[in-house]
Amino acid sequence: MSGVAAGGSRTLPSSARAPGKCILFGEHAVVHGAPELLFAVDLRTQVVVRAAAETTLNADPRASESNPYFRAALEALWASGPPVEVRSVSRLPRAAGLGSSAAFLAALATALLPEGAAGRPAELAQRCFSLERQAQGVGSPGDTSASVAGGYLTVNSPRGAALWTIEGDSRRWEVRRLEDPGWVWIVAYSGVPRSTADAVRAFARRLENADGPKLLDRFASVAHRGIDALARGDREGVAREMEENQALLREVGVSHPRLEALLEAVAPAAEGAKLTGAGCGGSIVVLPRSGRETEAMRRLARAGAVPFPVRASTTGAEAVGPE
Ligand code: PMV
Repeated sequence: MSGVAAGGSRTLPSSARAPGKCILFGEHAVVHGAPELLFAVDLRTQVVVRAAAETTLNADPRASESNPYFRAALEALWASGPPVEVRSVSRLPRAAGLGSSAAFLAALATALLPEGAAGRPAELAQRCFSLERQAQGVGSPGDTSASVAGGYLTVNSPRGAALWTIEGDSRRWEVRRLEDPGWVWIVAYSGVPRSTADAVRAFARRLENADGPKLLDRFASVAHRGIDALARGDREGVAREMEENQALLREVGVSHPRLEALLEAVAPAAEGAKLTGAGCGGSIVVLPRSGRETEAMRRLARAGAVPFPVRASTTGAEAVGPE
C-alpha cells in the first residue's frame, strides 16, 4: 500500500513507541523546583496512525473531544492533517503513577511529527511537556523527558550529563542523564486509581503553610542524597533515602492506606520502598533484596497488588515499522 503524506509532513501509516517512567525521588517537589530522579521503565506504549475517513482513537470517534491528551496532540501537531485512525496499545496501567499519559504523548508525537523530529529529542521533550501541561494543567517535565530520552534522568540536579532544559510556567527545569546502575526494581500497582492533577494541587496547597519552604528543602535534601547514592551505586544509601522520601510523602498526605499496606507487606524482602508518582493510590517502587525478588513479587501479589519487575529502558521514544 502506498503511503499518504499529510500536508507534506508525515507519511502514513506511521508507528512509534515510548516507555513509561518510575520516579525514585522527588515527585511533587520537582513541580516546585526541587530535584528529581527517575528512570524510563521497560514497559511501553505503541501507537499506529493510519489515514481514515474519521478521526478515532482505539475506534472511539469521540476521543478527540473527551481525551485531553489526544485532543492537545492533534490540535498542536496535526491541525491541517487528514482524519486519522489511531491505535494505542500499552503495557502500562493507567492512572497508576507510571507515566502512561507521557508515554502516549511521546509515542503519538513521534508518529505524527515529520520524519526526523525524533532526531531532535530536546525539541520533542519540550513539545511533549507543553502538551502534557495543556492537557493536565499542572506538572513537571520529568515524565515526558523520561519517555522521550529513556534511561535514568535527573531534573533540577547538578548530577549527570546535561541533556536539555525545559521551559514553562515561568520555570526552567534542567534535565540530565545519569548512568544506569543496572538494577532490577519492582513496581506494584495498588489498583487504586487517582488524579495526578488533584494530588499535585493538594501538595501545592500544603506548601502554602508557614512551614512550606522548610518542607520543600527537606524534600530537596532527600533527593540530592538519593541521587548521589545512585550515582555511586550505593544500594543501601538509595534504600535509606527511599524510606526518608516516603516518610515525607506520608507527612504531606499523598500516601494511601493501600500503599502503606503494600509497603508493609513487602518490607521483609525489600531494601527500600516508597510510593512512586503522584500517590493517593497508584503504585509503589521497591528495591528488592538481592536474591529475594521472587519473594518480593509474591508478597505484593498476596497483598492484592499487581507487581511488575522493571529495569530502565535504554531507548526512549522511537519510530517503529507500522505493522
Ligand atoms: O503519577 P504520575 O505518573 O502522573 O506522576 C506525577 C509526578 C508528579 O511529580 C506528582 C507531577 C509531575 O508532573 O512531576
